[in-house]
Amino acid sequence: MKKLFIKKPLHVLLEELHGENRLRRILGPVALTSLGVGAIIGTGIFVLTGIAAHDKAGAAVILSFAVSGIACIFAALCYAEFASMVPVAGSAYTYAYATLGEMMAWIIGWDLILEYAVASATVAHGWSQYFQDFLGTWHVKLPLALTRAPFDFNPDTGMLWITGSVIDFPAIMIALIITAILVKGIRESAGFNAVVVGIKLVIVLFVIVVGAMYINTANWTPFAPYGYTGVSFFGKTVFGETGLGGMPVGVLAGAAMIFFAYIGFDSVSTHAEEAKNPQRDVPIGIITSLILCTILYIAVSAVLTGMVPYNKINIDAPVSDAFGQVGLHWAQVLVSLGAVAGITSVLLVMMLSQPRVFLAMARDGLLPESFFGAVHDKFRTPWKSTILTGIFVSTLAGLLPLRILAELVNIGTLFAFVIVCSAVLIMRRTHPDAERPFKSPWFPFVPIAGVVTCLMLMFSLPEENWLRLFIWLAIGMMIYIFYGRKHSKIRKYVDAQK
Ligand code: ALA
Repeated sequence: MKKLFIKKPLHVLLEELHGENRLRRILGPVALTSLGVGAIIGTGIFVLTGIAAHDKAGAAVILSFAVSGIACIFAALCYAEFASMVPVAGSAYTYAYATLGEMMAWIIGWDLILEYAVASATVAHGWSQYFQDFLGTWHVKLPLALTRAPFDFNPDTGMLWITGSVIDFPAIMIALIITAILVKGIRESAGFNAVVVGIKLVIVLFVIVVGAMYINTANWTPFAPYGYTGVSFFGKTVFGETGLGGMPVGVLAGAAMIFFAYIGFDSVSTHAEEAKNPQRDVPIGIITSLILCTILYIAVSAVLTGMVPYNKINIDAPVSDAFGQVGLHWAQVLVSLGAVAGITSVLLVMMLSQPRVFLAMARDGLLPESFFGAVHDKFRTPWKSTILTGIFVSTLAGLLPLRILAELVNIGTLFAFVIVCSAVLIMRRTHPDAERPFKSPWFPFVPIAGVVTCLMLMFSLPEENWLRLFIWLAIGMMIYIFYGRKHSKIRKYVDAQK
């Protein structure tokens, strides 16, 4: 039993940092912030804002963005503390290994698949919707069978419906193209990323500035048609109204959905090994990118709900469609093109991060190293796990609908945030004297508030997500029991020390 909670000693982590085979330290604070923004702004703001405003929060989705942003800031401060303390790749997985023990680390590593691989499938759908919107502006339409997942959730009836389509072909296509790029090893270079982030920021600022001229303030009344709360406890609404199909609705329910838009700031911590001065710059990158995106998101959601009444907001490509609705067709084309470019970079980062988490787990012996640790002779990339990730992502993206995937990603990522915030609390107790170049302010308020707000958002998601999370974690536990537990390298190391 004790072995399940075996911890990776802090000094081992720090020694690994000076070992062979480490990545090159080339990233400064601006590059790190730009990587953060590159990973954050994507399907969340460009697609889910529409669903959240239309079905969950109305114009008060603006407040949903604020609430979710605050929860993320608490978590970001905790990530920043850890990243400065243990600046190695592996992110939440590694932090859990050092504090909560091997079993928890495995659970988090397994859970991160929800954050990276399942999020990639969600992002690929968003890409597909903007791609189709862009084609639509040129009057090109794909055959219905190739446009979306075969079933989807209908908020008007609260039931699943058959869409009449067979697969989301563009989503599959983009996931496979990105896989091929990642296998060949055009690694997400900081330079390429900076260009795409530039385009993305210009488009977002364009939406805010030009869109603001088309705001009709009457569209903000009623401001919160679904109420200001929306928390349920395993299917029972605790605060607020219940929508059709028993889903919680209201500002918090909206926040739980658009939480997806913030995912990615934590990926800055996976670049700790490549940072020139990780102790200082990784916290700067995490926090600056998050604050910048929070401000932009609040502004975009205010403009969008001001341009179009909440119940007329398009749920597939809401931001570009809003410009079409006010008669600015050239702007619609521009925004859909910008969204396609911007969402591509999110997909690239997410699909790059997944094999890295696998790699960290394989190095520790928790996954087969021959497969997950395999590096291609010529391309020098973890090609096998990249291809596996690509197949997984394109299958999910082709067959499962966006909102079901997004909610699954959210509950999984919120769970990871809860663990990271708890781990900061534990680490301060167990290692009070460890060097912490960045310390989360207002301790213990920040980590506790992080745990509470993330749990609150988890409870604002429809209840079936809990079931999906438990099933996912149970599958993971099986793999751990039958494989990871037996092959763990740390166990062997600690046994050898005895
Ligand atoms: N935050 C990322 C997006 O919205 C995952 O696409």
